[in-house]
Amino acid sequence: MSSIAAVILAAGAGTRMKSVLPKVLHEIGGRPMISHLLAAVESLDPSKVVVVTAPGMASVRKAVEPADIAVQKKALGTGHAVAAALDSLEGFEGDVLILYGDTPLIETATLRQMIEKRRAAEKCAVVVLGFEPDDPAEYGRLVTDDAGNLTAIVEYADADAAERGIGLCNSGVMAIDGRQLSALITAVGNDNAKGEYYLTDIVEIANRRGLTCAYVKGAEQELLGVNTRAQLAEAEKIAQGRWRAKAMAEGATLIDPDSVWFSHDTKLGRDVVIEPGVFFGPGVTVGDNVRIKAHCHLEGTTIGAGAQIGPFARLRPGADIAEEVKIGNFVEIKKSEIEKGAKVSHLSYIGDSRIGEGANIGAGTITCNYDGFDKFRTDIGAGAFIGSNTALVAPVRIGAGAIVGAGSTITEDVDANALALERSTTRQKTGWAKRFRKLKEKITN
Ligand code: UD1
Ligand code: MG
Repeated sequence: MSSIAAVILAAGAGTRMKSVLPKVLHEIGGRPMISHLLAAVESLDPSKVVVVTAPGMASVRKAVEPADIAVQKKALGTGHAVAAALDSLEGFEGDVLILYGDTPLIETATLRQMIEKRRAAEKCAVVVLGFEPDDPAEYGRLVTDDAGNLTAIVEYADADAAERGIGLCNSGVMAIDGRQLSALITAVGNDNAKGEYYLTDIVEIANRRGLTCAYVKGAEQELLGVNTRAQLAEAEKIAQGRWRAKAMAEGATLIDPDSVWFSHDTKLGRDVVIEPGVFFGPGVTVGDNVRIKAHCHLEGTTIGAGAQIGPFARLRPGADIAEEVKIGNFVEIKKSEIEKGAKVSHLSYIGDSRIGEGANIGAGTITCNYDGFDKFRTDIGAGAFIGSNTALVAPVRIGAGAIVGAGSTITEDVDANALALERSTTRQKTGWAKRFRKLKEKITN
């Protein structure tokens, strides 16, 4: 689809979120709402994307790079916000999509349908995305004529009882003929209940000028507007439902789908099994035939084919887990390469490390990677065996095939195939425990 521009309105204060963070930066699936919109629009290959922000929203400007930014100096309404974007669209004659930054679940297919409808009739200036929510609440209402053309949008505050009875509502998303946009927007006034410049007025204006307007019906699930934290949670749930369904459709087993939480970018291979209570933060890729057991937390990690993770494992950014690796319970891994077939089965912290192929890390092993100022690396060779409760004080290297005795604190490099042992001699006093008990019994009786 050639010649599409998109304008995303994000200048509203979002006061009902009760947050210092601008509303459009609140996240769904680990990604700001506005980035979901940008992704939906990006699939249409637009020649221009303009985001309208309020003055000073530096964090929003950064999040939407490289989109154009238009600054709306004062929030005087949605029509006024689109007017702020007109300079950026100067000379653009294609179709302009208007989206609201707080309506993040819209899908590309719906946008495409709107553009197609706009292009189907030369005189059609505006296509509005309508929907029929269970509770029409305070949404604007779409007024249509007998032929099904859209003649006006009436804002709730300005609607009479009959108009409030209309079930077809305005989602806010529009496709507008770029050749008409500027003339329509500059004709919008603010003589209404809120004293705002309503974008929605362009429908009546276009009709008065002998142009036509139409609507496309969308699903309520796609058009939820996020104004409160409760609605943010609702939007998250809808997005999670989509990702769970997609994971299963592509060949993953989710034993309890509702308890698995994905990020927008989670990638799963075939025949992956995910047990209940698993949370995926951003940046996780899982290979084929991996089993992730119950209650794991993963982010920024890659897991190779056939690996087994958990239960209760935490894989943090930079954990690079190769094929056939086994990560067991209460193991935390950060910024480390765990090579093919290695095992870290119980109660360990592995950070800034390489664990060589087939190495075995005993229960309770800790890589001491931080001295309070800097981080240091631990390197463990292929086939090495690290006994339980070992502290590896980095920087340190354990050679391939070496064995470290349980309970050691290793501060020097260990040669390949050597035994390293750091432990005091056990002292034994024959019969001492028996004598001790007898003495105690005498005192207490
Ligand atoms: C708007 C529509 C209403 C529709 C509803 C759908 C108008 C006049 N009304 O109402 O018909 O049913 O959305 O959710 O358009 N914004 C700015 N600058 C402004 C005002 C708003 O950028 O001066 C942005 C907001 O950040 C937000 C979007 O525009 O992303 C919508 O604004 P909002 O105030 O939420 O409009 P609604 O009252 O919900
Ligand atoms: Mg709104």
